[in-house]
Amino acid sequence: MDAGPWMDDVLLLTPGPTPLHPWAQAALGWPMRGHMDPDVFAHNDAIVADLRRLYAAEPDAFTSLLAGSGSLGMEAGLANLVEPGERLLVASNGVFGDRMVEMGRRLGAKVHVHRVAPGEAIEPDGLRRAAERVCPAVVALVHGETSTGVLNPVADLASVVRDTGALWSVDAVTTVGMLDFDMAAWGIDYAYTGSQKCLSAPPGLAPVAVSARAMAHVAARRTPVSTWYADLVGMRGYWAAGEGGRQYHHTVPIHLHWATGEAIRAALAEGVAARAERARRVGEAVAAALATVGFAHLVAAGVRLPTVLALTLPDGVDDAAVRAALRAEERVSLAGGLGSTAGRVWRLGLMGEAARPEPYRRLMTALAAVLPRFGLAGAGELPAAFDAAWAAAAPRAPERVAPGATAAAAALAAAAVR
Ligand SMILES: Cc1ncc(COP(=O)(O)O)c(C=O)c1O
Repeated sequence: MDAGPWMDDVLLLTPGPTPLHPWAQAALGWPMRGHMDPDVFAHNDAIVADLRRLYAAEPDAFTSLLAGSGSLGMEAGLANLVEPGERLLVASNGVFGDRMVEMGRRLGAKVHVHRVAPGEAIEPDGLRRAAERVCPAVVALVHGETSTGVLNPVADLASVVRDTGALWSVDAVTTVGMLDFDMAAWGIDYAYTGSQKCLSAPPGLAPVAVSARAMAHVAARRTPVSTWYADLVGMRGYWAAGEGGRQYHHTVPIHLHWATGEAIRAALAEGVAARAERARRVGEAVAAALATVGFAHLVAAGVRLPTVLALTLPDGVDDAAVRAALRAEERVSLAGGLGSTAGRVWRLGLMGEAARPEPYRRLMTALAAVLPRFGLAGAGELPAAFDAAWAAAAPRAPERVAPGATAAAAALAAAAVR
């Protein structure tokens, strides 16, 4: 039989999807099972436990995989937590915050937007004033805003949201699995990511974590959840054995479960602190090297998202033309800006397997080949500049043991930082 077309290698340095982790890649070759098979349930049980560690959630939190991308994680949270006519406060400083606003409106919520300029972070004082005005039933915001490369200070916003008594949904798409995320300590009720981001699994699943308080709220709703497919109480019947045993809900994508389960296991084995350190070190080296030819940080130092490096382009460099040349001639895939940053920046992915020096060293040689044609004569020195910057961005010991990582695993991983 003809094996059909196959894909050769392209270096993927976008802010998702990310190159597959080898364990996730291997799991895609595991055999098929039925969605009600005991092996699938055993694997799901391991995922439930591992996700609680990854999110640092309470032991009674409901964790599972939704069969869709990160946007389904976002939409399912809003659809379950907010009833039509209830007040939803979205704090937005970019494209993904605005996506929540749009979803909330479509779900019939009374949406109030606390808008912060793209490139700036959501501050506790501003959020407090908005919350006091709105008295929301639910507060939603993005931890790492991918469109601009801003890290919102969720730990500092926690007490503001707690004082409102509202349920709290946090988009952890560019953070959980790579950066500190402490769902229980921060009082978060609903958090989600996409399998293709910090975990380096294929796209198509949204790993979610839901507090017991939020699950009780969903179970006691006055109106049914508008989406049957992502109704969390319905899904719980499949993921957690109740009185009647496991219930069929829908046919889950078995191979995405295999691969994502392995990717979560790999993240926990390495330890989140070690992964955060990888992103920091590679990011610093890349930014320092590219600064030598005129790239600059878009975002101020204190609020930079370590997993998405947003760099403004040197004057006169044609964003689309350079990226097209990199893809066609050097087989390197980069992302430009999104929303307010379109045409102004490159957004370099430092999530999962992308946050390693080898792929970025290869980007430097690709840029050395391409950029001189676009008027940046000094680009030939980029590989050497990167090597020097990599050496200068020396490893740092993790500040604390990451949630979910055992002390021994974190110490081992820290020693092995590449
Ligand atoms: C912060 C954030 N939230 C949500 C999404 C949506 O995820 P997906 O594209 O997997 O639906 C993305 C995707 O880039 C994102 O970066």
